[in-house]
Amino acid sequence: MQKMSLAILTLVILVCSSPTMPNAAQSGPMPKDGELAFPSEYQSFPVFLSGVQKPDAIRDLYINPIGAQNQPGQAFANGSILVMAIYNAKKNAEGALEKGTDGKLVKADLAKIFVMQKGAEWGKGAPENVKNGDWVYAAFKANGERLNVDYTTCRGCHLPLGESKDFVHRYDEYFEKRMHGEH
Ligand code: HEC
Repeated sequence: MQKMSLAILTLVILVCSSPTMPNAAQSGPMPKDGELAFPSEYQSFPVFLSGVQKPDAIRDLYINPIGAQNQPGQAFANGSILVMAIYNAKKNAEGALEKGTDGKLVKADLAKIFVMQKGAEWGKGAPENVKNGDWVYAAFKANGERLNVDYTTCRGCHLPLGESKDFVHRYDEYFEKRMHGEH
């Protein structure tokens, strides 16, 4: 009888300490900059802003459904994903930028895709002087392959937005457009 209960106890200990059991201290992976999964379904996300005009590029911004629930004045919830698809602007045979009848640049090929995604305590792994809350950054080629970039540049340029805009450049513009139902 004693042998039997010892065997059961041993079994319980073995099962509970097996690596397949979820461990409360490590609930899920904590990606660092450049380690985010490519959000291949981003084009089905709600639009954040579209057709942002840059000197020689056009940018379409998306936000995943969790992020789109955010209210003005709030920080985005964990699980939020912001995606920026960067298109080269179309040039004519002479290499000059073309403009459409609306005076805007015309999209050519998709150049790259920038992502910022947030998770509980993800910011912990970020360099001390460029902590942007719990956002983590990643940059991809159009085909989803990772780009080799210095992510402190992303952080350095988003940092000045501060906590009030949750380090998101087009924070105010997004909520203004959403309020007016412009997309
Ligand atoms: C020189 C400054 C600068 C750097 C460097 C930079 N960004 Fe941004 N980022 C911006 C600006 C400005 C916007 C707003 C859209 C626009 O005007 O192009 C933006 C927008 C974004 C957005 C959409 C959400 C938002 O903030 O409006 C994402 C996602 C993003 N950037 C990711 C990245 C990633 C990833 C990197 C690094 C690979 C990076 N950014 C580097 C300035 C920068």
